[in-house]
Amino acid sequence: MQHEAIEKNIGLMGILIIIVISFGGLAEIVPLFFLKDTTEPVAGLKPYTALQLEGRDIYIREGCTTCHSQMIRPFRAETERYGHYSVAGEHVWEHPFLWGSKRTGPDLARVGGRYSDEWHRVHLINPRDVVPESNMPAFPWLEHKLIDSELTPEKLKAFKFLGVPYTDEDIAGASAAVEGKTELDAVVAYLQALGLALKDKR
Ligand code: HEC
Repeated sequence: MQHEAIEKNIGLMGILIIIVISFGGLAEIVPLFFLKDTTEPVAGLKPYTALQLEGRDIYIREGCTTCHSQMIRPFRAETERYGHYSVAGEHVWEHPFLWGSKRTGPDLARVGGRYSDEWHRVHLINPRDVVPESNMPAFPWLEHKLIDSELTPEKLKAFKFLGVPYTDEDIAGASAAVEGKTELDAVVAYLQALGLALKDKR
């Protein structure tokens, strides 16, 4: 009798279907907030320095994310090329994370230490100077613009509020750390920090 009432009332059935499905969703999602694997930083993970954090903002501003993912999938073809697959514990201090899936260029999750600072500088000013067949756009203006150091402490404070373990000294020294640095310096510092925590593991 009750079953018939539900079957004949599409509105009621819709609501009940949503309730049933959301239990399935909750059973998948809620544990992720409590699992160590997804909430704890991996051993050796370091928060970005003030300069690296500014570089990350420029990376976002310039749309590097539209061509580069930062997420190595757990497949042989990926780990052979890029190194250890990405794990959640590497990204617990990323706000927002920059995983992405669009790969016009290579994944950059572990590009830190792969090239010299000088290589990155030349490559960003004109990619064709080091990779002749590259179709990556050039970003020559980065070299000529200085970081606005006034806002840097505020950025660290915002990240601290979100759980990144910055100390009061980090915040107090943030402006001085980026003073006089160019946007290019910042992006290179950021790229060189990517993926180091699990770099040598395979
Ligand atoms: C229109 C797509 C596009 C955009 C936007 C783009 N790239 Fe690239 N990138 C590429 C391509 C294609 C390559 C491979 C050829 C090369 O090395 O230049 C590449 C290569 C790279 C590499 C070398 C990776 C490796 O493992 O060899 C780095 C580092 C890099 N890009 C950083 C950046 C940064 C930083 C930005 C933003 C300032 C950016 N890219 C924006 C397409 C792009």
